[in-house]
Amino acid sequence: MLRRLHHTQPESFEFTPANLEWAAGQISKYPAGRQASAVIPLLWRAQEQEGWLSRPAIEYVADLLGMPYIRALEVATFYFMFQLAPVGSLAHVQICGTTSCMICGGEELVKVCREKIANDPFTLSPDGRFSWEEVECLGACANAPMALIGKDYYEDLTAEDLARILDELAAGGLPRPGSAKGRYASEPVTGLTSLTAHETPHDPHNASVSRALAQGDTVKRIDGTEVPNLTPWLGKNAPPKVAAPPKKVRNSPPQAQPAPAETPVVAAKTAAADPSAEAPAGHSTRPEALAAPRGTGADDLKKIKGVGPKIEVLLNSLGIYHFDQVASWTEAELAWIDDNLEGFKGRASRDDWIAQARLLAAGIETEFSSRVDQGDVY
Ligand code: FES
Repeated sequence: MLRRLHHTQPESFEFTPANLEWAAGQISKYPAGRQASAVIPLLWRAQEQEGWLSRPAIEYVADLLGMPYIRALEVATFYFMFQLAPVGSLAHVQICGTTSCMICGGEELVKVCREKIANDPFTLSPDGRFSWEEVECLGACANAPMALIGKDYYEDLTAEDLARILDELAAGGLPRPGSAKGRYASEPVTGLTSLTAHETPHDPHNASVSRALAQGDTVKRIDGTEVPNLTPWLGKNAPPKVAAPPKKVRNSPPQAQPAPAETPVVAAKTAAADPSAEAPAGHSTRPEALAAPRGTGADDLKKIKGVGPKIEVLLNSLGIYHFDQVASWTEAELAWIDDNLEGFKGRASRDDWIAQARLLAAGIETEFSSRVDQGDVY
């Protein structure tokens, strides 16, 4: 299948603060210089937040990971789990179209989708709340035919079952996921003949169904507030922080937005304040400068590989004191810094200061900064 970006794109994308924090935790799993390994979980999170992956979302994730846009785009267009066009705002229904499901009635389920949602897959229903597609085997073949809706499997379905489930969702209800025939898991439809006790005899549902019912929602978009901190190595009381990439807005008139005094520079940037985000090649722009370090004092910029004592003094004289300032530079600003590092021209690009600074601003040590802390770098 030809997979292309959608012809209509939103102006911008950014993670919710909670999802940005979650992303910092994912990035911290990988060693310095290898943060691109987090691209799939971050793209997936962006999709869970918005329902689909827009070009601004893909570029945002690439910026966050210090990757060329084309690399993130390759991943997003390769994997079919990434939706490159808007899906239903309430639910995207995935009908299994592989052997077991097809011989057990999968085509009837497709018919229901055509009738109740839209004739063609990847097309929004008239109210924009539903969409559907046919997918390859989802691994529930023993409970065929089945559909994946939101995060839950609906199994042993008839056309009537699926129609009822869609009606319930449309009415704001909570259809019970799992087997429509009342099977606990994938035991014989005639009942268990051995090992007849379930792990949870007090609960008629398996763990997946129970969890969905307990949460009271199977199709909710994840915004990061509902999951615990899954990065205990970063400390429960010190949630990771990560510098968001500069916000890039396409085809939008400038809108001046004042920034709070203590807001990191990276978060304060807007398209209006950051015209260099779309600067032509060869253009350079002086990055935003601070008159003095913020209240917590200047960061030790020598933790960035390529920044020695002389360059640190030079950067301070240019109003650069903090990692998040460096992390927020655009290509045009990086070019300006490279040009103005007297005696060290080009070093900021050569040593990829921006990628290093993003990790340091997130509270993540790099291999080089660890050596600085241990006094191994002079
Ligand atoms: S064939 Fe449908 S889940 Fe495997």
